[in-house]
Amino acid sequence: VPISNIRNFCIIAHIDHGKSTLADKLLQLTGTVDKRDMKEQFLDNMDLERERGITIKLQAARMRYVMDNEPYCLNLIDTPGHVDFSYEVSRSLAACEGALLVVDASQGVEAQTLANVYLALENNLEIIPVLNKIDLPGAESNRVIQEIEEIIGLDCRGAIQCSAKEGVGITEILDAIVTRIPPPQDTAAMPFRALIFDSYYDPYRGVIVYFRVTDGTIRKGDRIYFMASKKEYYADEIGVLSPGQMQVDKLYAGEVGYLAASIRSVADARVGDTITHFGRRADKSLPGYEEATPMVFCGLFPVDADQFGELRDALEKLQLNDAALNFEPETSSAMGFGFRCGFLGLLHMEIVQERLEREYNLKLITTAPSVVYRVNCVNGDTVECSNPSALSDPGKRKSIEEPYVKIEMITPKDYIGSLMELAQDRRGLFKEMKFITENRASIVYELPLAEMVGDFFDQLKSKSKGYASMEYSFVGYRESELIKLDIQINGELVEPLATIVHRDKAYAVGRALTQKLKELIPRHMFKVPIQACIGAKVIASESLSAIRKDVLSKCYGGDITRKKKLLRKQAEGKKRMKSIGRVEVPQEAFMAVLRLE
Ligand code: GTP
Repeated sequence: VPISNIRNFCIIAHIDHGKSTLADKLLQLTGTVDKRDMKEQFLDNMDLERERGITIKLQAARMRYVMDNEPYCLNLIDTPGHVDFSYEVSRSLAACEGALLVVDASQGVEAQTLANVYLALENNLEIIPVLNKIDLPGAESNRVIQEIEEIIGLDCRGAIQCSAKEGVGITEILDAIVTRIPPPQDTAAMPFRALIFDSYYDPYRGVIVYFRVTDGTIRKGDRIYFMASKKEYYADEIGVLSPGQMQVDKLYAGEVGYLAASIRSVADARVGDTITHFGRRADKSLPGYEEATPMVFCGLFPVDADQFGELRDALEKLQLNDAALNFEPETSSAMGFGFRCGFLGLLHMEIVQERLEREYNLKLITTAPSVVYRVNCVNGDTVECSNPSALSDPGKRKSIEEPYVKIEMITPKDYIGSLMELAQDRRGLFKEMKFITENRASIVYELPLAEMVGDFFDQLKSKSKGYASMEYSFVGYRESELIKLDIQINGELVEPLATIVHRDKAYAVGRALTQKLKELIPRHMFKVPIQACIGAKVIASESLSAIRKDVLSKCYGGDITRKKKLLRKQAEGKKRMKSIGRVEVPQEAFMAVLRLE
């Protein structure tokens, strides 16, 4: 089709508002996927994604749609739905001219949706409001339309009412995509430039790059150049996504496609990078490229020291597919050999852990996540510290800065009080509160990222009975009165349990943490003291009393199967234990600091 008949669009929606269901219906109605082939929800295809019900990686699909006897090519570019991946969202939006804003008509606009709508507006996208789930008895389209108009200032006269589940309003949406979203500009004569909006590692063909051609043309076999990574390759294979990969010979400005070029790591072809021709290079790369900067770090240690090599191999393999994953070896006297790993955020961290355990069969101990502190030293240097146990001595440092984030919480008015209490308790600075409708408010705070890592999101959900949503962005480093809190178990310093806390909270954290550890660590045959210290000073202390009972003494007589069963049970209980000195410490203890009352 001519470029004037191409439409590139994405779907912006809050988790659970029905993005995948709608995408499936669009693919079905345009005959892009056969109903028989239709696996439930085509666009989310990582197992983990489906289980967790969130979109992590973006995908794309090309659809053919005929309107008034004119054939159109509609490219749907999917966007991930979580703040950890907001950079990828911004790149996928940059690849589109328009967006469907899908809002659940029984719920309303959520914080995450808002953030993405603003991103779309910054990218000058045409936004089509779609009210989904109108089949639900609780749907209140008019209220939600009013909300969208008031909060976002979007004209909702052309809003489409739809039920993705029942297939209502789907044709109207397709027509609106054609009539309201502008076609890409015709820049076919310019030097080739394409924006990478996704990539993944395929063990047979190397990295598969998903891109949108912004200017010029690419042909199969072309010698290409990645402007940020400065790598060159030959485009062995190019094609379109319909939604399976289908090879073609050429792709023009405005089109969306994929390429394979035996690229060895996604770091060579990262999301946001610009592809051009090696011979006829574009002068300027497309805007918006950012290095992936990990915000949250934790230690990963194999339970079984023999698995260290396997863990390294697995991390290297995952990194091929995840340019934001960062790791380096870490050794600790308590934990042995492992890795210090950096992630975009907590969800990213959990996903990586889960994949290491599921796909690579590793048994791991994870230490509590930490943010990256900036330490201003007495000698004038500034060093970054992402591992609390490595924080320099108080005598050597002048001050410590920590990362701050701005969070926006959107909540029904009944929960305003408890959410403000939560933010205040986490050292939050109140910035602003406004009512977006009679019943819903937006509350803005700035608070240390360290206070948000952990259970902040869970707390927000539980304090609002699941109704509040939030979104955060990094605002910079600020100086804080921070000190290191050490933990000693049985007289031995346990580095992975060290945390950096605010001076005012040190005593309370020390007390709560020792109590929590006492609950979590099983009793031993000897008495185990647990102490929290600042430097050499003990500020809180608990002790686990000894047990003497032998588990086997429960099996009266000599019933061997019963004895075996008990031993096995005991072994299972030990699964995630790490021996620290003579004390067995379970996985939960390393995360205890995140769950203090
Ligand atoms: P993420 O992938 O997590 O971002 O969620 P999503 O926005 O893709 O939501 P999804 O399509 O998975 O839908 C969430 C839930 O809402 C599912 O249980 C759907 O069956 C349901 N749902 C989607 N559309 C409709 C609708 O029009 N009506 C009703 N009643 N339910 C719907």
